[in-house]
Amino acid sequence: MRRIIIIGYMGAGKTTVGKTLAQELNLPFYDLDWYIESRMRKTVKEIFDERGEEGFRLIEHNLLHEVAEFEDVIISCGGGAPCFYDNIDYMNQQGDTVYLKATPEVLYGHLKMGKSVRPLLQNKTSEEVKVFINEQLQIREPFYSKAKYTLDVNLMDNYEKIKIFVTKL
Ligand code: S3P
Repeated sequence: MRRIIIIGYMGAGKTTVGKTLAQELNLPFYDLDWYIESRMRKTVKEIFDERGEEGFRLIEHNLLHEVAEFEDVIISCGGGAPCFYDNIDYMNQQGDTVYLKATPEVLYGHLKMGKSVRPLLQNKTSEEVKVFINEQLQIREPFYSKAKYTLDVNLMDNYEKIKIFVTKL
């Protein structure tokens, strides 16, 4: 049984990598944020707006427990998922956790290019976003680094290496 759980900060490429891997390995792909949205029939942004971050984290925690029970799957999780409750320990228990690690500069670059609205980053100037990413990474790194595998995604050509690495898990 194969269950690969991809974690990392916003903009690390978790969904992109997860989707590609799922195709390559011919396994179903679940993105925890998408799963939350379909189960709740609300966008992540709507959940944040209506219930605040705390409300979102509880839903995320509960639905992680549904998704991470599926067998033979690739799962990618929202950037904060491993950092609340005992989620990272649970993830490690359930599967092969892979941390996609990138520098704040690379993350910022990817986030700037992306079109989706991240509730935690909205209404912030570029400078504020940079400071925020730096601060959050310091808080989150101890959780992320508990993953079974850490892969550097700073170089684009690493995606090829990541694919090869994860395909062999
Ligand atoms: C969050 C990351 C988002 C989403 C939510 C909160 C975070 O997912 O779960 O907006 O706390 O880092 P992505 O990492 O897929 O953007």
